Amino acid sequence: MYVCICTRVRESEIRTAISAGACDEFDVADACGAGTGCGSCVERIRGLLQASEVSLAQAS
Ligand code: FES
Repeated sequence: MYVCICTRVRESEIRTAISAGACDEFDVADACGAGTGCGSCVERIRGLLQASEVSLAQAS
């Protein structure tokens, strides 16, 4: 499923960027370009980042 329509970036690519160390939407943009167009997907990207932080906190 595409998260960023402008740059045709899928959720799996964003999850990969987060796994590789992306800590915020700017890191995700650098890694895969998501969020660099109209900006309407940035909240969704932040949600994926927050979900990742929650799962990391639960794992520790
Ligand atoms: S949908 Fe991601 S920047 Fe437009």
